[in-house]
Amino acid sequence: MGNIIDGKALSRKKREEITQQAEDFSRRHGRPPGLAVVLVGQDPASAIYVRNKRAGCEQCGIRSFEYLLNESTTQKELLALIDRLNADNDVDGILVQLPLPSHLEEKEVLLRIDPSKDVDGFHPYSMGRLLMGEPTLVPCTPRGIVYMLDEHGVDLKGKDAVIIGRSNIVGKPAALLLMMRHATITICHSRTRNLAGKIAAADVVVAAIGRAEFVRGEWIKDGAVVIDVGMNRTETGLKGDVQFDEAKKRASLITPVPGGVGPMTITMLLDNTLIAARARMS
Ligand code: GUN
Repeated sequence: MGNIIDGKALSRKKREEITQQAEDFSRRHGRPPGLAVVLVGQDPASAIYVRNKRAGCEQCGIRSFEYLLNESTTQKELLALIDRLNADNDVDGILVQLPLPSHLEEKEVLLRIDPSKDVDGFHPYSMGRLLMGEPTLVPCTPRGIVYMLDEHGVDLKGKDAVIIGRSNIVGKPAALLLMMRHATITICHSRTRNLAGKIAAADVVVAAIGRAEFVRGEWIKDGAVVIDVGMNRTETGLKGDVQFDEAKKRASLITPVPGGVGPMTITMLLDNTLIAARARMS
């Protein structure tokens, strides 16, 4: 595979470990780790994610609780469900699929999840802990990125890492995790000046913009590590945020789309569920 990071193979390997650990947990506690997934409405992409989460749980011996709620669900009903899941001892992790329909207040919903069950790592408590360098539950996509870098022996110490995108889900937590590995971080976004120049100086590039092939291959420094978080549906198929063919010629390591970061994300969700389950039972 040369310089390609095979997210599917790494994900398979990690899931084998999770399966083993879930089995140990079940033996010790007389019940499997449990993950509750809540989906409101009919968004087709979200429905696919939720299905993949259920399949991942089945594969690894994690009990999955699925709540597929009507588009017309009220804020009060959704909060009441979260209260029930918070109180349910068989539920170790709670994930509310985003985006929520526009009549629902996302911040209030995320705030209602018990931080000990916050397997997405989106609760302000989890984010605050990460910011302080004392993480509890860490968002899944950034964890998957660091896992892939570790598996390939990438030493981040003193490296210049450029992260493109400042979302709470990927950009900000990815920056914090790379900083904890002693990389020097630059977070770029839509108002950044001279983006090409910043990318050209980067040892590590994490692209999480959500625009197909926005990062041009010729911007990449020779030998850089390129992590592409993009999942952009185009007329010619699923595309990443990076022009792959051109970037691949320069990068020492690069993730493909599909088959790179994507498969790792749900795997890390399963792992977070196990981590939450163990912490709750200890
Ligand atoms: N929507 C897109 N990515 C995610 C994610 O990682 N978690 C949740 N809950 N919703 C998402």
